Amino acid sequence: MQNNYAKIISGIYTDILSKENLGKVPDYIPEIAKISADKFGVAFLDLDKNSFVEGDYKEKFSIQSISKVFSLTLVYKHLGEKLWERVDVEPSGNAFNSLVQLEADNGIPRNPFINAGALVVCDILLDIFENPKQEILNFIRNITGEINISYNKKVAASEMENGFRNAAMCNFMKSFGNIKNNPNEVLDLYFNLCSIEMSCENLSKSFLFLANGGKNPINNEEILSSSKTKRINAIMLTCGFYDESGEFSFLVGLPGKSGVGGGIVAVLPNHYCITVWSPKLNLKGNSYRGMKFLEEFTTQTGESIF
Ligand code: DON
Repeated sequence: MQNNYAKIISGIYTDILSKENLGKVPDYIPEIAKISADKFGVAFLDLDKNSFVEGDYKEKFSIQSISKVFSLTLVYKHLGEKLWERVDVEPSGNAFNSLVQLEADNGIPRNPFINAGALVVCDILLDIFENPKQEILNFIRNITGEINISYNKKVAASEMENGFRNAAMCNFMKSFGNIKNNPNEVLDLYFNLCSIEMSCENLSKSFLFLANGGKNPINNEEILSSSKTKRINAIMLTCGFYDESGEFSFLVGLPGKSGVGGGIVAVLPNHYCITVWSPKLNLKGNSYRGMKFLEEFTTQTGESIF
């Protein structure tokens, strides 16, 4: 290790904590709006098992769109390249819940990390597995070794009641034939996946295979081939932050994925995974402090994929 990660992480954490926490906790999912805006956690984990943590790193929070990486991993593993007939791999340049490109693109979402793309992935999960909810939980529990990771039924119900845009999107894609199952079943699975609760520590463990060429760093078993792993990292880099993906790549320089619960997970292939959680979001829906932290982290360590 050339860098003193412990010192860099605690220095950035203290510095950001001393500054104003801008942004806003989203209010469109009422159950999430209740979370304390000042929560702030960091968990760094590398392939040599070095771990450096700060603040609320052990507290579980709603992973929201970060779950899209788990569902994509399972579907891509089972379906292979046929998946790309149903969802593209181009950045959308639009908000994560936008409908605007779907009509021109004949119901094919731009990528698997915008909501429309994640709904198609959920539709495929329903076809592949008898019990996709259990399958996703098994995957996450195995890779983290933490059996207490689960769905938050209240958060899922709160979104089901208020998720009119997602419902519109799902029905619209059904009209193009790109949703095969009953849209309500697809939405139920999607909202449940968004409601999974994990800590920064859990998330860094669960994403470390993406820094390890697709192999589980605990037992070296292959989760995904190295080629598929490269591609998931590529989609995280180009699409992981919606219409702020270019900015994240520009400022941070790592593949990553954010969620409206305030979490951001980022990966440096062959090296480490880092998760930051702070619930206040910027205008694009990404954690304000999470972005600041990671920008400073790759600047001070001098390490990124570029
Ligand atoms: O569907 C939604 O709007 C949320 N359940 C997930 C959105 C999300 O996390 C996008 N993230 N930045």
